[in-house]
Amino acid sequence: MPDSPQFAAPAEHYDRFMGRYTPPLAAALADAAGVREGQHALDVGCGPGGLTAELVARTGAERVAAVDPAAQFVAACAARNPGVDAREGTAEHLPWDDGTFDAALACLVIGFMADPDQGVREMARVTRPGGTVALCMWDIQTGGMTMLRTFWTAVRAVRPDSAGEDRRAGTWEGDIADRLERAGLTEVTGGTLTVSADYADFDDFWQPFTLAVGPAGVALAGLDADEQTAVREGCRAQLPDGPFSLDARAWYARGTVA
Ligand SMILES: C[S@@+](CC[C@H](N)C(=O)[O-])C[C@H]1O[C@@H](n2cnc3c(N)ncnc32)[C@H](O)[C@@H]1O
Repeated sequence: MPDSPQFAAPAEHYDRFMGRYTPPLAAALADAAGVREGQHALDVGCGPGGLTAELVARTGAERVAAVDPAAQFVAACAARNPGVDAREGTAEHLPWDDGTFDAALACLVIGFMADPDQGVREMARVTRPGGTVALCMWDIQTGGMTMLRTFWTAVRAVRPDSAGEDRRAGTWEGDIADRLERAGLTEVTGGTLTVSADYADFDDFWQPFTLAVGPAGVALAGLDADEQTAVREGCRAQLPDGPFSLDARAWYARGTVA
């Protein structure tokens, strides 16, 4: 079962909301982690399997595993990536033995872990000595993820006390690297990964927010009809009319298992 209503949506709804950013971000994270042919790799918090597909392309389905607490995402990940060892579970309690993988990656997940430090320790535990742990999360605090900055700016015009997402782990500079170091990883490095997504028009941007996916979609569903209209128009006022492309910056860090 999903661990929270934020990720109870069907895989296709996730695809339209955040999943359109996943392919380029997954490729950038896999590059940063140095995932290559012959390695055994784990996708933690796989969602419907966007990063999993990138790992499969690099090393083959028989060497890739994936895990997520949301059953419908695990099913979609398995269907989209035949041959992958896809399981239900959480980062904090990974269902694999010590040293199983050459690399463990988590794309846009650390901010949703109940205990991010425990999740990072578990990723290190299931990775062999000398292997790599790498994670990324959107830059929320300095507004580098344009789609979410646009939305939360409009929400705060209606609800100035809204917490938004800027207290989630990994959303500020250096936080992921600090956690990797606390977990005992060595040679920790990090930086930013910037990708973009294309939108046909404003409706293509707005409609996915109405599908109750992730913290933004759940927050929107909690507003009354007038507030939702105000948020929609607040977003529209920040965006161009026609087709547009939005940049999205993520913080990432990688480390080596001692
Ligand atoms: C923003 S989505 C990212 C999905 C996918 N990695 C991607 O980049 O498209 C966050 C994912 O984290 C999962 N998740 C939430 N809590 C988790 C936990 N404690 N351990 C592992 N995954 C978790 C959610 O079910 C969801 O699939």
